[in-house]
Amino acid sequence: MNPLLSYSYQAEIFCSIDAICAIVRLSSISDKKPFPNDRTVFMKKSILITGCSTGIGYCVAKALHEKGYHVFATARRPESVQMLLSEGLQSFHLDLMDSNSIKLAVEEVMRRTDGQLYALFNNGAYGLPGAIEDLSRNALRDQFETNVFGWQELTNLVLPIMRKQGYGRIIQNSSVLGFVSLPFRGAYNATKYAVEGLSDTMRLELKGSNIYVSLIEPGPIASQFRANAIKMLAKYVDVEKSIHYERYQGVLKRLNKEGPAVPFTLPPEAVLKRVIHALEAEKPHPRYYVTFPTYLFGVLKRILSTRALDALLAKSGNNN
Ligand SMILES: NC(=O)c1ccc[n+]([C@@H]2O[C@H](COP(=O)([O-])OP(=O)(O)OC[C@H]3O[C@@H](n4cnc5c(N)ncnc54)[C@H](OP(=O)(O)O)[C@@H]3O)[C@@H](O)[C@H]2O)c1
Repeated sequence: MNPLLSYSYQAEIFCSIDAICAIVRLSSISDKKPFPNDRTVFMKKSILITGCSTGIGYCVAKALHEKGYHVFATARRPESVQMLLSEGLQSFHLDLMDSNSIKLAVEEVMRRTDGQLYALFNNGAYGLPGAIEDLSRNALRDQFETNVFGWQELTNLVLPIMRKQGYGRIIQNSSVLGFVSLPFRGAYNATKYAVEGLSDTMRLELKGSNIYVSLIEPGPIASQFRANAIKMLAKYVDVEKSIHYERYQGVLKRLNKEGPAVPFTLPPEAVLKRVIHALEAEKPHPRYYVTFPTYLFGVLKRILSTRALDALLAKSGNNN
């Protein structure tokens, strides 16, 4: 056999073995219990969460409250705040599009905790579906205002508090779409890539500060995400006039589908499990994969060429 061919053949085998080991390692890591000897587990910890009206934010806020955390379950709509209050949670207004509401929310937390905050779970966001060529500057700007700039503004208000107290956890609800792209998810993809970039840099800049930044990377999770995406499509994209009119029918079919739109969809509790690890482990992981598609694409991204991965992703997102 040509030695070069044999070399590339061996390299491929090593890549495959590496990939399988990575899957096994990641699955076992994600199922580990938080370190039992972590003394902070036994303290009442405070956490500020955004986007608690529905889905992952609601699930995490409720569960952490029941677990004894001091939870600040924020939401942008008054009726959501009322709903959370009626369920016994501490809740107030926080709209990620509004700098003033972010500032007031942090001040409110400081008032209620005597100036301490153990953790921030950046979660509130939405997905704007649509072909990139159909998205106006305004549509893209709004998507970034909520999913990226609001998160970072909030984080930057919280970091000095954490630095002063000498510990903290920043948990970022990213996505599998923070490291692989699908057609008609360009705006959302771009915001999650941005969150990944900012988080990776923050992790380096916070080294040695006892403040840990963790990214959660869920695949499909049952929530109001698709229902909200339909509203955003109607608000920002003129489907009737688009060159992609036919493909939008597929997008709408997927978004309107009853029950899970894709296989391997998990309930929000799957994310909760990783959030708890990121909160309670002595050294939380920089990244937590959630759902089979995330593990799969995590491996494929490492072993496939861009061209091969593109072919797969284009096919996965072909009808929608
Ligand atoms: N579901 C999935 O398959 C999936 C997969 C990967 C990652 N994620 C991520 O998980 C997080 C939560 O999404 P979800 O699945 O739970 O969807 P969801 O049920 O639609 O919840 C999104 C939350 O974000 C809030 N929100 C939207 N814009 C906001 C703003 N300007 N200010 C404050 N809050 C705002 C929503 O509030 P309103 O009720 O007022 O709209 C809602 O509470 C997001 O970061 C999303 O990117 C979801």
